[in-house]
Amino acid sequence: MNFKEIQFAGTPDKSYIPDDINLKLPENNKLPTDQLHFLLYIPWEEKYINFVPQEFRNLFNKVLPYLHFRTTDVHTAISLGFLDEFIGKFPNTSINRTVVAVSLILHDSGWSKMSEEEIADSLGVKGLVLTEKAVGPKEKHAAESVKIAKEVLGSDDYGLKLTQNEMDLIYNAVLFHDKPEMVTEASGSIPIEVKLLVDLDHFWSFTHENFWQDTIRKGVLPKMYLQNLSKDLDKYFVTDEGKKMAANLLAQRVEEVSELKNI
Ligand SMILES: [Fe+2]
Ligand SMILES: [Fe+2]
Repeated sequence: MNFKEIQFAGTPDKSYIPDDINLKLPENNKLPTDQLHFLLYIPWEEKYINFVPQEFRNLFNKVLPYLHFRTTDVHTAISLGFLDEFIGKFPNTSINRTVVAVSLILHDSGWSKMSEEEIADSLGVKGLVLTEKAVGPKEKHAAESVKIAKEVLGSDDYGLKLTQNEMDLIYNAVLFHDKPEMVTEASGSIPIEVKLLVDLDHFWSFTHENFWQDTIRKGVLPKMYLQNLSKDLDKYFVTDEGKKMAANLLAQRVEEVSELKNI
C-alpha cells in the first residue's frame, strides 16, 4: 500500500494516509482554522453504490441528498455492504432484513440538519467513547434522522411494501442507533434488528476508509488510534458476532499501520 503525506492545522505533524483515500474540506466553511480538520470528508463517488444491495437502491438514491455530510454517504453505502455477511452470522435467528437495511439507509440522514459546529463537536473524541461535548450532537442527529425517516417513508415505500409495524421498528432503530450501552443493558427486550443496526453502523469505524479518515479528522496518530479502537471495541458492539467481525477488521488496520512504519 502506498501512502501520501497530508497536513492540516490541528493534526499531528507529518501525517500520512493511504494513496486511495481522498479527503476534502467543504467550501465556504466558517470554522476557525484549527478546527477545520473536523470537517474533512471523503467525497461521494458513483462506485460506492455497488455496496448497496440492488433492491434498496431506489430508497438509497432518494435519501442520498441527506447523506452528503460528514462522509455519511460513503459510510452508509459501505456499511450496507456488510448487511448480508453480518445477517449470515445468525443462521438460527429470524431477522427482518428489509427493516435492518432501511434503518441503516436512514439512520444518519439527520446530520444534514446539523451545523458545522455540531459536526466538529461530534468528532472531538480520540476513540469511540463520547465526551460530554460530543453527546449533544449525537443525540440530536438521531432525533433528526427519525423526522426525515418519517417524511421519506410517509410518502412512498420504494417498492419495499413496509407495514406500519415495520416502519415503527425502523423509527425506533434509528432513534437508538448510537446508544450501544442502552441497547446492551436492555438486551432482552430489544429487537434483533435494532442490535444489528447498532453493530452494522459501528463497523464503519474499523473500515479502511474511516480509520484513515479519522486519524486526520480527529487528529490522532494511527498507532494510538488502533489502541483506542481496540480498548473501546467491547462496549461499542452489542452482539458477539459484531465484536468478532470488528476484531477482524481491526486486524486488517493493524497490518496497514505496520506498513506505514516502513516510511
Ligand atoms: Fe449516527
Ligand atoms: Fe452511522
